Amino acid sequence: MTKANIDLSYQQRPYNKDLSAIAGEDGLPLLGTTLELIKTPYALVDRLYKTYGPVARSRILTQPYLMVSGADINQMIFLDSDKNFSAAMGYKESLAQFYSGGLLVRDFDDHKMHRRIFQTAFKNDTLSSYAEVMNGVMKKNIDCWGQQQDFHFFPAVKTTLLDVAAQIFLGIEDLNGNEAQRIANTFEDISQGMMGLIHWDTPLLPFCKWRKGKQAKCYMEGYLISQIAERRLNDKSDIFSLICKERDENGDYFSDADIASHIDFLLFAAHDTTTSNLSYIMQYLGQDKTLQDKARAECQAKNKAFLAFDDLKDMHELQKIHYEALRMHPSVMMLLRRTIRDCEIAGVHVPADTIINVFPQYTHRMEEYWQAPEKFDPERFSDERAEHKRHPFAFIPFGGGAHKCIGLHFAGMLTKCFMHQMLLTYEWQVPEGYAPEHQVFPMPKQKDDLPLQLKRIQH
Ligand code: HEM
Repeated sequence: MTKANIDLSYQQRPYNKDLSAIAGEDGLPLLGTTLELIKTPYALVDRLYKTYGPVARSRILTQPYLMVSGADINQMIFLDSDKNFSAAMGYKESLAQFYSGGLLVRDFDDHKMHRRIFQTAFKNDTLSSYAEVMNGVMKKNIDCWGQQQDFHFFPAVKTTLLDVAAQIFLGIEDLNGNEAQRIANTFEDISQGMMGLIHWDTPLLPFCKWRKGKQAKCYMEGYLISQIAERRLNDKSDIFSLICKERDENGDYFSDADIASHIDFLLFAAHDTTTSNLSYIMQYLGQDKTLQDKARAECQAKNKAFLAFDDLKDMHELQKIHYEALRMHPSVMMLLRRTIRDCEIAGVHVPADTIINVFPQYTHRMEEYWQAPEKFDPERFSDERAEHKRHPFAFIPFGGGAHKCIGLHFAGMLTKCFMHQMLLTYEWQVPEGYAPEHQVFPMPKQKDDLPLQLKRIQH
């Protein structure tokens, strides 16, 4: 395919290392405030905001960056009318190390050109065809959970969603077969690899997570590329098969390498995000029987075992709970950009090549937008209260602007189809006095994997 005429020279420049003119704190020598950012990021952002204002300097190891907070700033950065902010450079040292061709590490015209590869896969008609497959895979898994002793939700739903992804994203039908197992293991190795601390791909360190992740990534790309020719000829509607047939504006197929990169990144972007969201939904409903019963009543009133795509718009209770869990615990905790040129953010002069960190959870809990923000209260999303509409960028679990999550409707469908089945099959509760510790990175979750007591509902 042809490349758009894009000046990418900003991608060759080093990071700006001098933010001394901007108020903030550097933290410890060599470490910066990295440990606090990993363990208790909300406390760090809160202190930076209250002490230095909405644009504050801090450091990850030796690299200075700006933490920015507030709905107006979110809006300015995501809408980016002056093309000042690069996602590709924001994620260069993290995501791009494993997903260098993914949508989130592409900017402007190049990004726009590549985003069209998903146009058929995420149309309503296509989404609607996924609901049935999704429901079948979920049922098989959910049915078994009631027999398990010492049930922990997180690993169980992770496996379930990998099964869903294997079928809907990759079109693998035999979920117990070697192919599905190998893909699941590969996916896990890549995820672990991204968290590896030693970024050195050498046979001298055979157990290094990073190296194992890189090898898994090579396997995955080879696997995907080996299938592309056959996928162009089939009439299947899994996402991989659909994007293999997609063409660019000149009528050419996308390259094999681009297709493999997009599918690979899509699996990553879709999986842990939805797993995290469902874990918080299950926790809050397990802590509040009244809320759980209210959600169940909505599902029972539908009088059907599975939701179809057209039912989703009617599931108001489920929708409010989905959003409220994302408000409290947005799955993506840091959205990164890098400035392309000198610019101004909330009256602060910001030099070119500066890392900008948007932390959605902070805006999600600002009292100017949210009533009693620390409380889990789905009703704040009701038509009457509609707190999320007080500012178009106060609620940003899916980001905004050009890079806004392409899978947000898919995520909504998956969440509601799952909750519907779960609420009709079981009542559940968390252990007495449950107050879990939380892991924040790579995705937020309960550190103890969320133990649940499930009680099957007799029909
Ligand atoms: C609750 C679930 C999800 C959450 C909270 C979420 C969140 C996000 C966020 C915040 C971004 C923007 C990041 C940025 O601007 O820096 C994003 C982008 C993206 N998401 Fe999601 N996501 C979810 C589910 C999914 C699913 C299910 C898919 C695919 C089926 C998906 C595919 C993508 C892709 C491809 C991008 C990059 C879009 C672009 O750069 O144009 N996500 N997501």
